[in-house]
Amino acid sequence: MFYKQQCAACALALSALLTACGERSPADADAGEPAEPRKETVTATTGSAWPQLQPALPGNSELEEKIAGLLQRMSLEEKVGQLIQAEIKYITPEEVKEYHIGSVLNGGGTYPNNDKFATAQDWQKLADAYYEASMDTSDGGVAIPIIWGSDAVHGHNNLVGATLFPHNIGLGASRDPELIHRIGRATAREVAATGVDWTFAPTVAVVRDDRWGRTYESYSEAPDVVSEYARSMVEGIQGSKGSKEFLDGHHLVSATKHFLGDGGTTRGIDRGDTRVSEQELAEIHAAGYISALQAGVQTVMASFNSWNGDRLHGHQYLLTEVLKNRLGFDGFVVGDWNGHRFVEGCTVDNCAAAINAGLDMFMVPSDWKALYVNTLKQAKSGEIPPARIDDAVSRILRVKLRAGLFERDRPLAGRADILGNPEHRALAREAVRKSLVLLKNNDQLLPLDPRRNILVAGDGADSIAKQSGGWTITWQGTGTTAEDFPGATSIYQGIRTAVETAGGEAALSENGDFSADTFANGKKPDVAVVVYGEEPYAEWHGDLASIEYQLGNKEDLELLKKLKRQGIPVVSIFLSGRPLWVNKEMNTSDAFVAAWLPGSEGAGVADVILTDAEGEVQHDFTGQLTFSWPKLVHQTTLNPGDKSYEPLFAYGYGLDYNDKVQIASDLPEDGDTYAQGALEDAWLMVSRPREPWGLFIADGGEPVPVAGNRASSGDGNITVASIDMESQEDARLIDWKGLRRGSVQLRAQKPQDLSRYLDENAALALDIRVDRQPEKPVYAQIACAEGCAGELSLLKPLQSLPAGDWSHLTIDLQCFAESGADFSRISHGLALSSKGPLSLAVANIKYVPGGAESAQIRCQG
Ligand code: BGC
Ligand code: BGC
Repeated sequence: MFYKQQCAACALALSALLTACGERSPADADAGEPAEPRKETVTATTGSAWPQLQPALPGNSELEEKIAGLLQRMSLEEKVGQLIQAEIKYITPEEVKEYHIGSVLNGGGTYPNNDKFATAQDWQKLADAYYEASMDTSDGGVAIPIIWGSDAVHGHNNLVGATLFPHNIGLGASRDPELIHRIGRATAREVAATGVDWTFAPTVAVVRDDRWGRTYESYSEAPDVVSEYARSMVEGIQGSKGSKEFLDGHHLVSATKHFLGDGGTTRGIDRGDTRVSEQELAEIHAAGYISALQAGVQTVMASFNSWNGDRLHGHQYLLTEVLKNRLGFDGFVVGDWNGHRFVEGCTVDNCAAAINAGLDMFMVPSDWKALYVNTLKQAKSGEIPPARIDDAVSRILRVKLRAGLFERDRPLAGRADILGNPEHRALAREAVRKSLVLLKNNDQLLPLDPRRNILVAGDGADSIAKQSGGWTITWQGTGTTAEDFPGATSIYQGIRTAVETAGGEAALSENGDFSADTFANGKKPDVAVVVYGEEPYAEWHGDLASIEYQLGNKEDLELLKKLKRQGIPVVSIFLSGRPLWVNKEMNTSDAFVAAWLPGSEGAGVADVILTDAEGEVQHDFTGQLTFSWPKLVHQTTLNPGDKSYEPLFAYGYGLDYNDKVQIASDLPEDGDTYAQGALEDAWLMVSRPREPWGLFIADGGEPVPVAGNRASSGDGNITVASIDMESQEDARLIDWKGLRRGSVQLRAQKPQDLSRYLDENAALALDIRVDRQPEKPVYAQIACAEGCAGELSLLKPLQSLPAGDWSHLTIDLQCFAESGADFSRISHGLALSSKGPLSLAVANIKYVPGGAESAQIRCQG
């Protein structure tokens, strides 16, 4: 424990303490906080930025008559049911029948019967049950087939055994639209084999700030690539419009997402605000929609984000005027996961404003019944005009009719042999080869001769989970094991097979150690291939505060250095969902390959980096960057056309074996995000602890890391559990029994120089909810080491907070400096300790520059 120093100068402005969550301080709003977009910008919506497009499919009077006929027979209850999409965990076939529900989805990591290993037949069976329920007219209603949607974003990624294609960022680098078309078709077949009708893909975001955790779902930061790919992918999934294959049983309904501007939010914050002109919105962010619409895409998913302060789910101008009227979209707009609740005046179960703005179907996973009841009420009262209801339902029926769901001809359903079949895996392997981008190849180290001793190191070398990233079996891609990937090949396995065939030897050693026994010939490695990079993540959880790779703890760099010191040439195979600042790793590597997130067919890497047994190149590198690679750690928004554009590797860069480029190994290494560029919020814990910070329980004895979503100290004095505030598991509930004083800490392995935060008048900011009030001392500490702790009593502030409600708390960092914290070497970004019983939920823990002035707890300087 740190010794305690009195914070003499701390003046508690208690009166100002109670701010409801949501009433954020101006300083916080500056950070582009998603919950509270600013309102002061009035957007000029002239429409002139948009082309006037005709509907992609020619008018079909027979189809329209069918729709009109169905509408006439449907009751208002049946119509409202069509507007609802519930999640398979929360709705039974019986309920589908009773409420005439229009759609179901399975979220990331949801499977029939809660069984991760559910087979194609199990999926098919459940799909049939929902379908039959929807067509059951024993209660006298009209038979309208249900439509089931799933996120097949890199293959049918919720299915154990499916082919996992490289994530979109890798496909972007391949610059091969025809390949994308084939991947779309293969994915549609795997999805159709499970009886699912619709995929929530492709994402056509044009990502401008690589800190966004969904960067890897984007093909490129450049609109032209996204535009071309969107068309190819939609045509691959749905079939080409006008042809016989269009929406036949081998093809599916596609959804382009997330409309609109999801890749343009300030600081790359998921669900944030995109503050751009209408021109920029149309030319950059809408590029993929315009081409996808022309290809006949049948659905569009509304986005969580706002445009200049207005949430897309309630955006009448963009959803109705632009998308439907101007761009000629005659399919339907589906919401994102409870996305309507962000619209002003709305809650999860009540949101007429979204339907009135032009949303046609709510994605409302669990609270669908209450939303149904309220929407029906609003339809009856006229708060939602009858014409709007009829328009929304017509659009849904139009898509269902076009997709042949009424007849439900399912040639592939239940065909387990289609999932992960050799043809699809070969296609994925081809995509891996084409997605690799060679950034550095000094002295022509690559290609490697497979007849030699090859050491394969790094924690990504033999990990399908790591090479596949998020949206893989589970939502975040975490918590999987090797048995979740039957038929897949790790990067190491691919290298080993090729090397053994050629007569060389490949040895796997995650930490890079080897001995005289490692290779049969007793010699040391001729070369090391080190595979490392980002851990899996998905939306929201994957947002970064800094693009510096391994900000706090440079373990992989240490591994590279260890090998170099022994005179072993090093090839880095870097797995990541975005370009990151890796100058140190780059300087320590002889060759460096950006491999993105290749998916289940890791052998595609060996195909390119190894020659055949005769020393001939098998496949040369062809990949080119569709995202600029940063030279400096603060280049987070780096895009071609920037006023000053100085990347390390420019958009379009990519070496091949004919290039004799030497990259000097003296790239600037003074990274330290906190020391450079404009000072931005330091994130300590936003959804999860952020590098370099880790969460620990210190309760007597050595502090123990909080691993997983629940942990407690030996005798249970302190328990930490993940809970939901705004999104899944974005907060922690800390429970102290009060047996002794103990704390929960955000610690860094190495001391951090955070003095600029003091200089720039930062505040510690967090969301907090007191579930059980304290009666004994409670402290917040920021500390550097033994004897260097700044401490502040939280007893009174916590006692004055409303129990059970979220509040936003801000504390001037000076309070900690004045009581002893040396901000040039902080090891504990925040520690919360309690002597007595206390139950406290916390989230969004940050240092916010400039926040001190309006902080609720202030200290004189
Ligand atoms: C994501 C969408 C996804 C949906 C259903 C949302 O949280 O933003 O991309 O399609 O969930 O899983
Ligand atoms: C679902 C995802 C969804 C997310 C939204 C998860 O439980 O599996 O599909 O995008 O929740 O918060």
